[in-house]
Amino acid sequence: ASSAQDHNQHFLQCLTDQFERSNSDPSNVVNSPKNASYASLLQAQNLRPESTSPLRPLLIITPFHEHEIQAVIYCSKKLGTQIRVRSGGHDYEGLSYTSEIPFIILDMRNFRSISVNTKDKTAWVEVGTTLGQLYYTIARHSRTLAFTAGVCPTVGIGGHISGGGYGMMSRKHSIAADHIIDAKVMNADGHIVDRRSMGEDLFWAIRGGGGTSFGVVLAFKLELITVPKTVTVFNVSRTLEQNATHLVHRWQYIADKIDDNLLLRLFLRSIRSPVHGNRTIQASFTSLYLGRVHDLLPIMQEKFPELGLVEEDCIEMSWIESILYFAGLRNESLDILLSRTPAGIFGSNYFKGKSDYVRQPIPVSGLRGIWRFLHEEAENRAELQFSPYGGALSTYSEFETPFAHRAGNIFMIHYGVSWTRPGNSELERHMNWIRRLYSYMARYVSKNPRAAYFNYRDLDLGMNNEGNTSYAQASVWGLKYFGNNFNRLVRVKTKVDPSNFFRNEQSVPPLYS
Ligand code: FDA
Repeated sequence: ASSAQDHNQHFLQCLTDQFERSNSDPSNVVNSPKNASYASLLQAQNLRPESTSPLRPLLIITPFHEHEIQAVIYCSKKLGTQIRVRSGGHDYEGLSYTSEIPFIILDMRNFRSISVNTKDKTAWVEVGTTLGQLYYTIARHSRTLAFTAGVCPTVGIGGHISGGGYGMMSRKHSIAADHIIDAKVMNADGHIVDRRSMGEDLFWAIRGGGGTSFGVVLAFKLELITVPKTVTVFNVSRTLEQNATHLVHRWQYIADKIDDNLLLRLFLRSIRSPVHGNRTIQASFTSLYLGRVHDLLPIMQEKFPELGLVEEDCIEMSWIESILYFAGLRNESLDILLSRTPAGIFGSNYFKGKSDYVRQPIPVSGLRGIWRFLHEEAENRAELQFSPYGGALSTYSEFETPFAHRAGNIFMIHYGVSWTRPGNSELERHMNWIRRLYSYMARYVSKNPRAAYFNYRDLDLGMNNEGNTSYAQASVWGLKYFGNNFNRLVRVKTKVDPSNFFRNEQSVPPLYS
């Protein structure tokens, strides 16, 4: 404890000296365990499994100005302190606010300006903004401008967009990272660079490779997309008694090929049947169509008549209302999008997630095996999401950005389990369940590498050694997340941060570190 205190003292002294040079007051941005603000800032927006008993940060820095971040980088380098950059705090493994070694959090929550240009259909967005705030602000400017990114409104721009960003419009407009047209990044030397001055390699890396290994992203310039004034949503659920197994099986043959304006996402869980009271599987087809219901129905009738979609299942609304709908906030006012506190279906719990990519339809016998796993976790919130690919996602080459999951993928699986009771035995039970399910799924999903989505970070895939990273070790998860782009990410890292200042358990290592 005393060495931590000494370290804090030295760090504070260094920051104070640096701040004095620019006439700013550290008390506005430095939160030590002695400050009341520390505990509330530490409270994460996503509870991670507690198995690794992480250390608490020495300090939490909440800068308002770029020179304050420069001071943090300078002092961290000088004193050998590790920093963790946090934008929205939704990292699946908590890497933005936990660490095994002494560290400070650089919390970007005060970097949240958004400036929308409706003429050229672009927006500069600072990284501490949330998706909800971005969506809200765009909608205030126009009913037909939008952005393609994730579903949960409290997810942060910094982590999400630099790591990909899949959402309900991704079949039509691909992922968020594909719409970054400029960025402001502070590099390991404390210099601020933009697209032109950072060079195309670094600009390529932060469009799907995550910001975390390369610098502190300050802001992104995004290309907005155009949406119709009216879109259509529906959420149709079927149980096993209503032919769910057949429907899910059939869905795999159409989900990636159907009209790009339509994204049919599938949620699978075990529920108690309202009819006979026993356990059954519920398959919910949660969908967005970028158009009116009278255009949607003939498409469904032709391509997926088995679902039996009827007009009464569908609701027409504006794009921004669909954001509330998919976040489970249908009856709320739009202002809830400005909140940083997860609500609706995203309330905090203990949680573990994993991901997979499917390139060949899973046979009915495989689906039945999944149902057995879901029944095992029936009392908790265990859920599989099948998110369709195809459409615009396939029009980019595998190498265009580090996000390698392009043509050939039918859908991505998200496995998730959340629970409320703390304690190690609970933790072990749920971890064991999700790991057994993942191992069962190996025969049905992509191979060599078994691909995974970087934004659904999963430390089961492997971790760097502290202080002595290895290319071979990191390629185990690097190839899963980034495919053949991993080698280029290593080259970029070696060029822009050879001393590995920006690092964490799964950061891209430089060569020769
Ligand atoms: P956080 O601040 O925790 O950062 C995540 C990582 O990025 C960390 O390694 C962090 O250090 C780094 N980082 C953050 N800001 C940085 C910056 N400014 N510069 C450099 N590095 C930075 N994904 C998806 O594609 N579609 C979806 O619909 C959803 N939905 C969803 C719901 C919920 C409830 C959760 C918890 C997560 C998702 N996600 C998701 C996953 C999400 O995209 C992923 O967790 C993002 O990394 C979160 O970004 P944050 O900024 O919130 O996280």
